[in-house]
Amino acid sequence: MTDTAFARRVKRRVSARIQEFFAVCPPGLRQACARELAGLDARIHDIQVVPGGVVFYARIMDACLANLWLGSPSRILMRLARFRATQFSTLEKKLSDIDWHLFLPAGTVPAIQVTTRTSRLYHSDAIADRCRPIVRAALNTGPRKETDSDQNIPSQTIMIRAENDRFDISLDMSGPPLFKRGIKTQVTPAPLRENLAFAILNAAGFTDQDVLMDPMCGSGTFAIEGAMIQARMPPGFHRRFAFEPWPGVSPAAFAHSRTQAAQQFSKVQSIFAFDVDPKAMRILSANLAGHEFLAPVQASQLDFFDLLPNRFTSRKGVVALNPPYGRRLENPGDTTAFYREITRKLAADFKGWRVGLIYPGKQFSHLNFLNLKPFPFFHGGLNLAAGIGTI
Ligand SMILES: C[S@@+](CC[C@H](N)C(=O)[O-])C[C@H]1O[C@@H](n2cnc3c(N)ncnc32)[C@H](O)[C@@H]1O
Repeated sequence: MTDTAFARRVKRRVSARIQEFFAVCPPGLRQACARELAGLDARIHDIQVVPGGVVFYARIMDACLANLWLGSPSRILMRLARFRATQFSTLEKKLSDIDWHLFLPAGTVPAIQVTTRTSRLYHSDAIADRCRPIVRAALNTGPRKETDSDQNIPSQTIMIRAENDRFDISLDMSGPPLFKRGIKTQVTPAPLRENLAFAILNAAGFTDQDVLMDPMCGSGTFAIEGAMIQARMPPGFHRRFAFEPWPGVSPAAFAHSRTQAAQQFSKVQSIFAFDVDPKAMRILSANLAGHEFLAPVQASQLDFFDLLPNRFTSRKGVVALNPPYGRRLENPGDTTAFYREITRKLAADFKGWRVGLIYPGKQFSHLNFLNLKPFPFFHGGLNLAAGIGTI
């Protein structure tokens, strides 16, 4: 096939078609993700909140924009096929029917991830073993391993999900999870995931016009997410995506989207980050130093209980707090006393500020002395909740 004929086929079968996508979301963030999709400056259709995430339909370049601009999902998958199979011969036939070479570049090393539930074909490794040679043959992949460390070899995750004998075959568009923004190089213990910080800031009503204080900042997740929101910078601006080498994706069009975004950036101002721990401040400084747009973030070592916000700003804004609790406190039994102190401090010195305060989820109602509205989520194997409201 000539290059032009191939390009025409890719256009007809892949890029000009409306495809199905699935934004994988952490529990608690599906509605936020659906709202983000609805507000995206792209042609997105039929947004549906479903278990585990949000389904939407779009052309591939619009789904690339969703990867670039969405702050809340963990990754975005593109559906390639859906079929029923109860025997390996059917599975192999259906997998062979997929035009892999129109979706993925030649030589791609497929990394197959399988999950199965209540299906006749239940053995994940056996399913992956049947899929791998089919994809490798379709893409003329040489004898290379998924773990090959050669950066020139594109590796691509293919997700196979079987439930009640129904198979969904998808490509991971994102690569590393979307909460990896490509900004933080170091973290303090118990860092918050960026998509959770993003969603909490949004729930607290933080906009690009607002002041933000992150008084227990650790490695600075709230401060950095807030700075990106203020800069009107796409959450994915500083990272790469798995879809970039796909034949159906135009590198020029995607580069143009990045350039267009960069032309709209505003200057970061009034973002404040504090931590009592000098080690956290060193880590935060290293994270901030890597990116010029973060230079205006004001960071100082300070105990939250000594923080008087009006010494730093005359405006009221959002205070986002991720305190240590349980075993991360010197005396693990002190969680209640610590939250009581935080409450007193907020009530005394942050009157009129909007708050996003993270709680150990099970203790939310017991510790919610400020009568905040719960925003439940799941993080690091734990049920947590952010309390959202105005002090
Ligand atoms: C759970 S960590 C925050 C993690 C942060 N959100 C991140 O993503 O990296 C809690 C932080 O609160 C800080 N901290 C604890 N007590 C504090 C206090 N009284 N004043 C300021 N910071 C405090 C700790 O040093 C620690 O860095």
